Amino acid sequence: MTMKKVGVCGAGGTMGAGIALVAARAGFETVCFDLSADALARQRKAAGKFFGKSVEKGKMSQADCDAALGRMIDATDLTALADCDLVIEAIFESLPVKKDLYGKLNAICKPETIFASNTSTLSITQIAGGCGREDRVVGMHFCLPAQVMKLIEMSRGINTSDATFDAAWAWTEAAGQIPVETQDKPGFILNALLVPFNNDVIRAIEAGLATPEDIDTAIKVGLGYRMGPCTLLDLIGLDTQVLLGEAFFPITLDARAAVPPLCRRMVAAGKLGNKSGQGFLTGLTRDKATEAPGFSVIGRSANFAEGLANTGDAVTIHLGGGFVADPSKTAVLVELGTECLGQHTGEDSGREGSNAVGFARYRNGDDAPSNLIEIVVQPNTSSEALAAARAIFEVAGFETVVCKDLAGRIVDRLVRPKYNDALRFLDEGLASAEDMDKTCCMGLGYPIGPIARVTGGGLARHYDVSKAIYDMTGLPGYAPARRAVVAKAREAAK
Ligand SMILES: NC(=O)c1ccc[n+]([C@@H]2O[C@H](COP(=O)([O-])OP(=O)(O)OC[C@H]3O[C@@H](n4cnc5c(N)ncnc54)[C@H](O)[C@@H]3O)[C@@H](O)[C@H]2O)c1
Repeated sequence: MTMKKVGVCGAGGTMGAGIALVAARAGFETVCFDLSADALARQRKAAGKFFGKSVEKGKMSQADCDAALGRMIDATDLTALADCDLVIEAIFESLPVKKDLYGKLNAICKPETIFASNTSTLSITQIAGGCGREDRVVGMHFCLPAQVMKLIEMSRGINTSDATFDAAWAWTEAAGQIPVETQDKPGFILNALLVPFNNDVIRAIEAGLATPEDIDTAIKVGLGYRMGPCTLLDLIGLDTQVLLGEAFFPITLDARAAVPPLCRRMVAAGKLGNKSGQGFLTGLTRDKATEAPGFSVIGRSANFAEGLANTGDAVTIHLGGGFVADPSKTAVLVELGTECLGQHTGEDSGREGSNAVGFARYRNGDDAPSNLIEIVVQPNTSSEALAAARAIFEVAGFETVVCKDLAGRIVDRLVRPKYNDALRFLDEGLASAEDMDKTCCMGLGYPIGPIARVTGGGLARHYDVSKAIYDMTGLPGYAPARRAVVAKAREAAK
């Protein structure tokens, strides 16, 4: 089926406006439909600005810009969509509102018209149910901002025909977008991985694991993500994060999808993120140390193969584990593996703390070590010992973050459940490994997708880390995924 004319429902809104730009830019006659004429007028101005910028940047000729704008027709009457080949719906995220629209569209549009929903949280099968052309409804989830982001998650409802799916897929490619295939499940790929991960971040903040600024640094330096999760949460809006959790949890019953109490308190306090002026990030910055106390190193570690040369004796650094208390030192630093600092120092019901400081250079399994040092403190760790630890690693060129002595520290605590999810989704057929990785790289700016990352670092190593955290927390998100259990068993059998 050749598509020529495209309708966009909700074209006065954030997503609809972007989708209309994609369609018009690619040469399709584009009917921009919305209930609000004012919203359409605003978006028409924004469209002129967007294409105008593309001309300035040399991405588009003035003639193409004029032609694209000329292909956009505004409409507040649904009958304008009657002869569209494809109608992409991006109206309010409400099942009854969407179902009502699909029923009306079915009565108005020609029989061949395909309907595509941009829903983030609803089921394509449910949206299509009872509309009268269930076989011609497909999921087409664009990323924000649609006119910039190329990725589209495509999904079939139970009744979607192959011909419909193939035609919609071909349209996304003709429109210059990059489709990936996923199932009709809450969150498709991107949000299914992101929503529980973001909730874990909020729970980590609530637990006082580290400051939001340090969580962002740890994830950016440790994993190479372009944007830290707290920056992303502030951008998405904490009110939106609440809505996402409320949509997913009742369907998946995944405790990690449930809205963290702190998220609701932030919303109640009016701290919604960028849109209200403040969210989790406070703008707190810290100058890096330029001078460090002298230290002597005991032991060896593959994570510091290039060495840490002795410079004095104010601080002792134990590489590779061993620890001997020495109150005469400014600090005694202990390299940690998957264990807690308390396993070396002993604990005293929350009163522990001395000049002992834990540290770990973040490393994903067998990958090369990152430039991140996670510094681990106990409730009463001396501030001089912490300052000495930070200074030593910062002067040596590392990025440091500080966290509580909790299982997984920052990076592994946050990322291991995501790897388990991705591996489980692979087993469940949510999407191929390639499409899951492509979604995360293109939609979230990850340098490497979760499947490539966890298999690259070694599934048996993932098992070791995830199992260690699971043993300490008992949380199901850390129970190693089947593929990691298999890899570990095969390694043990060698
Ligand atoms: N905002 C995002 O980041 C994002 C990303 C991907 C998908 N989505 C999905 O896209 C859809 C729209 O989200 P948004 O953020 O653009 O919302 P929005 O509130 O910015 O826009 C919705 C638009 O739909 C219009 N509208 C509402 N009911 C209508 C109806 N019956 N007929 C015609 N127009 C109607 C409104 O006037 C408004 O202009 C939702 O399904 C959402 O889940 C949002």
